[in-house]
Amino acid sequence: MPAAQWNSRFETGISLIDAQHQSLFEAVNRLATALGSDSVGEGVKESLDFLAQYTLDHFRTEEHFMREMAYPGLVPHVAEHARLINRVQVLQARLAEGQPITRDVTTFYASWLKHHICGTDMAYVRFMKGSQQQP
Ligand SMILES: [Fe+2]
Repeated sequence: MPAAQWNSRFETGISLIDAQHQSLFEAVNRLATALGSDSVGEGVKESLDFLAQYTLDHFRTEEHFMREMAYPGLVPHVAEHARLINRVQVLQARLAEGQPITRDVTTFYASWLKHHICGTDMAYVRFMKGSQQQP
């Protein structure tokens, strides 16, 4: 079973966001695969670097949407994003020092994504859809 299994309950109905979320799941699974055979090597570093960069790009997209619609929950949402980025950067630094990382990282990441999408992201999606329905 992949570390991050996509499920229809993660769908927001916003195609760009859904595509990015699915790509994030794929990136987590690529890292999990790389970690299956190694814990410090180049494959792990590349997968982790890709995941970190893609996460950053995705968060920028979401934060742009939220700013555009003057979403009142922007600040705590951005803070949640920042905490994950911080954790990923700690992992990158650890790996750069030659310390191994384990598959626990991908379990954590998958769980973080699922909770964040179903809770924090769905809140801004509801707000976005509600404001679009107004005359
Ligand atoms: Fe988010």
